[in-house]
Amino acid sequence: MCGIIGYIGEKEVKPLLIEGLKRLEYRGYDSSGICVKNNSGLSIVKNVGKVEKLEKDARLSSIKGKVGIAHTRWATHGEPSELNAHPHYDCKNELAVVHNGIIENYVPLKKMLEKEGHKFKSQTDSEVIAHLLEKFYRGNLAEALLKVLPLLQGTYGLAVISKKNEEIVIAKKGSPLVLGIGNNKMLFASDQTALINYVPNIAYLNDNEIAILKENSFEIRNSNGKIIKPKIEALKLDAEDIEKNGFEHYMLKEIFEQPKSIKRALSGRLNKDGVKLSIDINLKKINRIVLLGCGTSWHSALIGKYLIEDLTNIPVEVDYASEFRYRTNPLKSSDLVIALSQSGETADTLAAIKKAKESKAKTIGLVNAVGSSIARECQSVIYLQAGPEIGVASTKAFTSQVTTLLLLALYIRKEKGMKLDKKLLKEILTLPKKVFSSLQTENKIKELADKFKDNKNFIFLGKGVNFPIALEGALKLKEISYIHAEGYPSAEMKHGPIALVDENMHCLFICTHDHTYDKVLSNIEEVKARKGKIIVITDKADDKLTSKADEIIYVPHIDPILAPLINIIPLQLFAYHVANMKGLDVDKPRNLAKSVTVE
Ligand code: G6P
Repeated sequence: MCGIIGYIGEKEVKPLLIEGLKRLEYRGYDSSGICVKNNSGLSIVKNVGKVEKLEKDARLSSIKGKVGIAHTRWATHGEPSELNAHPHYDCKNELAVVHNGIIENYVPLKKMLEKEGHKFKSQTDSEVIAHLLEKFYRGNLAEALLKVLPLLQGTYGLAVISKKNEEIVIAKKGSPLVLGIGNNKMLFASDQTALINYVPNIAYLNDNEIAILKENSFEIRNSNGKIIKPKIEALKLDAEDIEKNGFEHYMLKEIFEQPKSIKRALSGRLNKDGVKLSIDINLKKINRIVLLGCGTSWHSALIGKYLIEDLTNIPVEVDYASEFRYRTNPLKSSDLVIALSQSGETADTLAAIKKAKESKAKTIGLVNAVGSSIARECQSVIYLQAGPEIGVASTKAFTSQVTTLLLLALYIRKEKGMKLDKKLLKEILTLPKKVFSSLQTENKIKELADKFKDNKNFIFLGKGVNFPIALEGALKLKEISYIHAEGYPSAEMKHGPIALVDENMHCLFICTHDHTYDKVLSNIEEVKARKGKIIVITDKADDKLTSKADEIIYVPHIDPILAPLINIIPLQLFAYHVANMKGLDVDKPRNLAKSVTVE
């Protein structure tokens, strides 16, 4: 949540900061701002709305300099406004700060500073950092920051520049920060996608560390000021990973990328004879598994429960990370806790896995973003290998999570000495091809999107392993088209949502052929009897179904346990085309952010 970036080097900083903000915009886009330093001091330009607006701001044209910091905001404290946008100055406009995170004790700090005569301009928690720095600054920025940090409660990824120092000082606790190391330039950003094409190497900052960046050098220090040896690694992403490649939106590109991303998730890990994962934890004696996540990752976790219980017979619990972290969790050393996260930075999931680690339970992360906080926090990590996901609504990361959960379930099965079903392994290898066929529903989906784009409500229904698909389909529609949609287990509909059914209510059933097929058919009858409109996703033509449905979408048939990966595709396309036809900003839906690094 919120994206920050900065540069010190030999080139004009403005274009780089604007491009960096655009790449970080998925983290928040209520407002944005930059601060550039030159011989005459610091200059800040801020704007409400997307980075595009900041880029066109006439005030930017007069700003020049080779040192700068920038911020794109997802508002927590204070409405989106120019005053609340970052960077924030101290009283004398000599220091400027950008901050990602929340300063929980900002109220008493602000009161104390106001008593001391500091004048605040914004309603944000972040502005206290600028004034605290002002209080302690005696010419050395790093020294001042090391005095300020112990006073802050909460989380931060922050950067400071001053009128007088030829450097940027950054600090991290609980919010991500990565350094970009180049020749005659140093950068930092909230994530590595903002650094692509600018630097060959990166280094992650750990919690409670600060870094001092100069044009030709950098230094990382711990909270006592002691120098830490950095772990420098190559930046492995390239520009193609963050381009739209001819698609109108990132979301559509990512939906169509799924045959490839699923193939990458399987690659080197599964063949027709078995499964191979490099997990350095002994899973033979695991008796219970807890799956944790938020949003779409929580839906993958729900599917994981079906897959793991079915393939390993180990009981699985699924929890919202935000609930798990505040409950008593009686975990044992024979428990395995798995954190699911695309970004690897979701604050609740990170806190939940830290909590699980305090017990003796084993921890594994199923994470997309390489080197992210959750990936580094877990004892072992399985990367999704989906490549950067930029559209705020998650698509390819979801199917890669489900694929990876499937691999993990098979791996645990093997570790437990249970036989692998060769037929299933072969079927899994057909997934990329079948997902490709499922994408061919697009024309039919466009027709339906056009027909239903003005609906006010939808109910999505599914049973068994397709129940989480109903939830995920409804979430996609809500997130980007702002249409109210509820996901429900199809039989549960009788206990509430059926009261909403009349001739105006559209119910979308996922009804592919498995052992629950006839039961779902009965639920369809129940809606039909109340004049509800029926849209069905199915895998085979069947008179019993065609006679009841108002609209049918056909997807390829696959082993029922793999069906979620096929059935979600038309629902992703439906949400996309409805939102696009309504002229909405598909990649940056209102109020949402891709990486939620606050509670
Ligand atoms: C936000 C995003 C969702 C995502 C959720 C969890 O709400 O908008 O798309 O599913 O966070 O994120 P994670 O990165 O942990 O999977």
